[in-house]
Amino acid sequence: MRDKIVAGNWKMNLTSEEAIRLTEDIKIQLSTNALKDVKLILIPSYIYLEKMKSYLNNTGVFLGAQDVSSRNNGAYTGEVSASMLKSIGVDYCLLGHSERRQYHKENNEGLSEKLYRLIENKLTPIFCIGETLEEREGGQLYEIIKNQLKPALDLKENYFKKIILAYEPVWAIGTGLTATSHQAQEMHAFIRKEVEKGFGDGVASETSILYGGSCKPSNAQELFTCKDVDGGLIGGASLVAEDFISIANSFTK
Ligand code: 13P
Repeated sequence: MRDKIVAGNWKMNLTSEEAIRLTEDIKIQLSTNALKDVKLILIPSYIYLEKMKSYLNNTGVFLGAQDVSSRNNGAYTGEVSASMLKSIGVDYCLLGHSERRQYHKENNEGLSEKLYRLIENKLTPIFCIGETLEEREGGQLYEIIKNQLKPALDLKENYFKKIILAYEPVWAIGTGLTATSHQAQEMHAFIRKEVEKGFGDGVASETSILYGGSCKPSNAQELFTCKDVDGGLIGGASLVAEDFISIANSFTK
């Protein structure tokens, strides 16, 4: 059985006070809506991680970072290393989010290095892939996804087994346009098939693949019912405690 996961990517939102209030609101929601068998991960800005860690003590909610340096440590001004994240109790980290691919020119080479840094420091990468609308309409969908998967599929098997994948079609992020459950299932099945080609059926069936892109309480259940969708990576709706917990309670399988 693979893990069911709902992760909230807060992106570059919220002041310190707002971040703590949202954390508290999520705790209140959890006290009245116990989650069934779902792993919850909050992914705020770096600067709130340590403070949130203490607020989340004993809640079972995990913390993730939005990015990590490709270097171990040293003279890299402005960077945050995997060992720094580990040292404050962070367990997950997004990698290759389309916003970082677009605005920070993340490429496969750098992402490969970051995957190694995270896994060597015992953090779980949430490795994001997804096509733009032009790529989908231009008929290159599968080639693009295959190429984006490369840094993950090039890992050794025991490293690959540590990662979570997230399919986030760029055209669905923050646009209100959600992939239909048919489109999501089709891509998730394709991604799982690629994992199977690389590492076999056993590893493929154990890999959690999350969907992201305008996922909200009104569509989460339909998406999470898909055979190969193991949860969600939530942007906008994760900034409202009630919506986020409602999404986390949308699994029917
Ligand atoms: P939205 O849910 O706001 O579309 O964002 C999705 C996302 O990018 C999560 O990483």
